[in-house]
Formats: sequence, C-alpha cells, structure tokens
Amino acid sequence: ISIAAVVPAAGVGARMGLNHPKQYLKINDKTILEHTLEKLAGVKQIDHTFVAISKDDAYFPELDIEHLGLSRVDGGKERADSVLNALKAMSANPPKWVLVHDAARPLVEPKDIEKLIAHCLSAGEGGILASKVKDTIKRGGQYSEETVPRDQLWQALTPQLFIFEELLHALDTALKSGAIITDEASAIELQGKPVRLVEGRSDNIKITTPEDHALACFLMSQQQK
Ligand code: C5P
Repeated sequence: ISIAAVVPAAGVGARMGLNHPKQYLKINDKTILEHTLEKLAGVKQIDHTFVAISKDDAYFPELDIEHLGLSRVDGGKERADSVLNALKAMSANPPKWVLVHDAARPLVEPKDIEKLIAHCLSAGEGGILASKVKDTIKRGGQYSEETVPRDQLWQALTPQLFIFEELLHALDTALKSGAIITDEASAIELQGKPVRLVEGRSDNIKITTPEDHALACFLMSQQQK
C-alpha cells in the first residue's frame, strides 16, 4: 500500500503580519517548514512528499532539505487549490492513499500520524486527526445567541488521510461548485463519504498569529527534551 504526502505551504500568512510567508519563521534553530517536513520524513509509511509552494517564493530553495528528496509543485489561490495541484502532479504515478498536512503544524507527533494511518488503513476509509473541543462554544455576532453543546464538537487538525482517487474527485468537484473548503474532510463530506475522527494531541496547533508562534517555540522545546 502506498502513501504519498502533500504539504500545502503556499499561503501568505497575512494574519502573522510579516513580509515573508509564516512558515519561514524560526522555531529554535530551524524554520517552521523544515520542522514540519522532518516530522513527516520520520514516518516510514510515507513513500514520497509533495510540497506546494507559491511560484514567486524565493525562500524555499534556501532551506536545508535536499536530503529529504521532496517534490515541489506550484501552490494555488486557496489551500484547496494548492492541494489539488499536488494531487494532479501525482496522477501519472498515483498512490493508493494521500496524507495532507499543513506546513503550519510543525508540532505534530509522528506517533499521532502513525495512529491515523493505522486506523484508516485497517478500516479502509479516510480520516483526520481531531481533538475534542475544550471551551464552551457560543454562536452569535455581537451577542451570544446560543451555547452549542460541545460533547459532539471536534477541532479538525491535520494530517488528513484519504484514498487518492476519492480526494482528487472530491476536491475537484468542490472547487468547481464554488463550495468553501477549508480542509480535505469538508470536500469528502460533500460527497457523502465517511470521515473517521481519530483523536490526536491538542498541542498539534496551527501557527497563525504571533501568539501561536510564541506558544509553538515553548512546545517545541518541551518536545525536544
Ligand atoms: O491560512 P491557513 O493557516 O489556514 O493555511 C493552512 C495551510 O495551507 C498553510 O500551511 C498554508 O501555507 C497553506 N496554504 C496553501 N495555499 C494557499 C493558502 C494556504 O498551501 N493558497
């Protein structure tokens, strides 16, 4: 069984307020993107990794990642376009499964990735890492209109693992229909296909703001102890 990985890394990271994409911020000695790619390289079931990088990104060639043997593909307008570009690049030699992991989640534990792979492959269906919602959740605008019962709420994390052909079809269809797709699972759900929720560590955070970056620096130093 073959598994290929896709790392969408073509965002501009506007919410970080930098003049370069957020994945080039450093955590200790390395950039966020290098940490993420090294984590994936530590998972032996992954045969090959494709990284979606913006066409005019001049920072990527400067990274110390030659030894990882990755393939670079062009990013797209939205995250889903970047992932679809990578899937199309794989079509000539398609894998059975494809695992998508955000560049901005360098804290993922290889053990959690292996857990997701084990669950999905034994069930023969796709799934995602997710963590149970811990906060009390309100729905509303200026005022709270409702407190949403949280016992069935999950926070979607990455990686997300699906059968290659199913994800290719789901993303292509969703993008053509103009649906808003913020992760792979939402495209699969639109096809009426199951998405298994596999509990992962809640410290697998997506670095979006400067506060997230500060927290990630702390969490990484704990992980490396
Ligand atoms: O913006 P956000 O943090 O939700 O992006 C999630 C991931 O998707 C990031 O790793 C980002 O680089 C990537 N992305 C992409 N192509 C885009 C937008 C975001 O690969 N057009």
